[in-house]
Amino acid sequence: MARLLLAGILALSTTLCSGIIVENAAALQALKINFDFIVVGGGTAGNVVANRLSDNPGTMVLLLEAGGSNADVLNIIVPFYAPRATPDTAQDWNYTTTAQVGLNGRSVTYNRGFVLGGSSSVNYMVYTRGSMDDFDRWAKVTGDEGWSWESLYPYFLKNEDFTSNTTGHYDPSVHGYSGINTVSLSGYPTPIDSRIIDTTTQLDGYPFNLDMNSGNPIGIGWGQATIKDGSRSSSATSYLGSQYIARPNLHVLLNARVTRVLQTATGVVRSVEFVQDLDGPKYTVNATKEVILSAGSIGSPNILLHSGIGDSSALTELGISSVHNLPAVGQKSHRPLLVIPAIPCQLNRYLGHRDAQRHVVGGGVHRVEYRSHGSSGPTSAHYELIFCNGMLPPPPATGNFMSILPVVVSPASRGSITLGSNDPLADPLINPNLLGADVDLVIMREAVKSAIRYTTAPAWDGYVLSTLGLTDTSDAGIEAYIRANAGTIYHPVGSVAMSPKGASWGALNPDLTVKGLTGIRVVDMSIVPFIPAAHTQVSAYIIGERASDLIKQTWGIN
Ligand SMILES: Cc1cc2nc3c(=O)[nH]c(=O)nc-3n(C[C@H](O)[C@H](O)[C@H](O)COP(=O)(O)OP(=O)(O)OC[C@H]3O[C@@H](n4cnc5c(N)ncnc54)[C@H](O)[C@@H]3O)c2cc1C
Ligand SMILES: *[C@@H]1O[C@H](CO)[C@@H](O)[C@H](O)[C@H]1NC(C)=O
Ligand SMILES: *[C@@H]1O[C@H](CO)[C@@H](O)[C@H](O)[C@H]1NC(C)=O
Ligand SMILES: *[C@@H]1O[C@H](CO)[C@@H](O)[C@H](O)[C@H]1NC(C)=O
Repeated sequence: MARLLLAGILALSTTLCSGIIVENAAALQALKINFDFIVVGGGTAGNVVANRLSDNPGTMVLLLEAGGSNADVLNIIVPFYAPRATPDTAQDWNYTTTAQVGLNGRSVTYNRGFVLGGSSSVNYMVYTRGSMDDFDRWAKVTGDEGWSWESLYPYFLKNEDFTSNTTGHYDPSVHGYSGINTVSLSGYPTPIDSRIIDTTTQLDGYPFNLDMNSGNPIGIGWGQATIKDGSRSSSATSYLGSQYIARPNLHVLLNARVTRVLQTATGVVRSVEFVQDLDGPKYTVNATKEVILSAGSIGSPNILLHSGIGDSSALTELGISSVHNLPAVGQKSHRPLLVIPAIPCQLNRYLGHRDAQRHVVGGGVHRVEYRSHGSSGPTSAHYELIFCNGMLPPPPATGNFMSILPVVVSPASRGSITLGSNDPLADPLINPNLLGADVDLVIMREAVKSAIRYTTAPAWDGYVLSTLGLTDTSDAGIEAYIRANAGTIYHPVGSVAMSPKGASWGALNPDLTVKGLTGIRVVDMSIVPFIPAAHTQVSAYIIGERASDLIKQTWGIN
């Protein structure tokens, strides 16, 4: 049975093989092309930009990605295998945070996709847009109405190809059906589904929400995920699908790790330096119009800092010559938290390991509960409950489990990305400052209580037997449990954040150009001034979409 399935998946994966990819740096140089745009990082947002800019056949686009191909990697194709895609795999950057004071001094792994598609190739595929208030706050903070929910709404639809049709499980009027990235409801039922939904009518405080992607995500509803016909839909399979990657004006170089961006004239940054082997030669390539940094919330500040663009005194101390003093680079990042109290129950744990069509834990079967108390506004959440039928991480040898993962989605803690050395190939220092703000601990504590309360509804009678892990349910007991067990669900943002044009703070203008420099923009989750109370891949996609339009406007490209 297992062998049969493997054969099926391999046959499927061959259809994902990419078309035109430049073999290596020498082959790239031999082409002698003047690229209009160089996109650094073939991740979630970067692939959107590469796609949209190259849809004009006269525009030459080069995409540089540090990782390898997404094709034929089972752990990133099969949704159920997502927990195997990271950490410490060939598709992961293998980062670890600094010791976290709020977590009793623990360090936690900090996963990031190191592969075409970036984190969209290794994430858990949960599709949540966030709330109206989240985006309206971006507009307010940057002074640019273009970042409001209403202005961005067409981009959600442009991104999305919603393929499910189960009446009563979603609102058809809020989805896009002709976009590029596939979104679907769960493809299979699990024994906890009806219990989760029934609870909304049995307990106060958990209203049923027909569609959590309408701009008002508060409540409990059916989960949506970036899954197409049982396989992961990533920015690599969608925006770089075979019909796009075959464009003669789009060149993609894999295993190209960008070390720095360089000035081509004072204040003009249009040159990119990269290596293919960690101890190999450095190459440079220049853009005639713009360099677009899409290396993600860790990668983009890391590249800028090594290029001398950041806090000049901190850089000078490390022996990096300052090119442009911009203290906001790397100085603000927001990360949601995750703790895992697992609740054993009497039914099956891990239904159907062998079924490739099934959604991953946290993808198709997740239900979220949002509550608002002063996050970005009334439509926005403080915490989320993710339900999964099974246990994450791997369960004990015996017993049957379901899990509820409480997540603080509007954390107040602020972290930083800084450098420990002047070696551009060394890992940066990643300090998410988890639980650094007291309010985050309070919200997490309430989220844990809420998760426990949820299973006291009649819908769960005789189903949930006991709670694993958490034994002392006093406030102090829960807080101690959180500090000892909390991790993160990998939503860093804001490390190269935008601010109003002319503001003395922030790193980017609202059109994503780097303050004080010409020729360079940043387009990925690092630009976000406040984290959306959601999972962050959808934001990354629509940032890529809006940025592409901004870039085309600047250069008069249709
Ligand atoms: C394990 C995990 C689970 C997650 N689960 C979910 C989920 O279920 N739902 C959800 O919405 N979000 C989820 N997220 C978060 C979401 O995937 C990210 O917020 C989003 O994909 C980030 O997009 P990005 O474009 O900013 O960066 P990325 O997609 O990470 O892209 C950055 C790209 O740049 C490349 N790069 C970096 N440095 C360099 C360099 N020096 N040179 C060249 N290339 C470079 C990287 O290899 C990568 O391809 C998850 C993330 C992780 C890691
Ligand atoms: C992460 O570790 C894996 C396994 O050791 C390795 O193959 C991969 O190249 C590492 N990632 C990076 C960015 O070095
Ligand atoms: C709903 O989707 C299923 C499977 O994708 C398809 O077979 C069916 O025709 C669809 N029904 C409608 C009414 O669109
Ligand atoms: C890029 O531009 C710089 C500065 O103008 C120049 O010195 C360098 O040779 C150029 N690199 C390439 C590969 O053309």
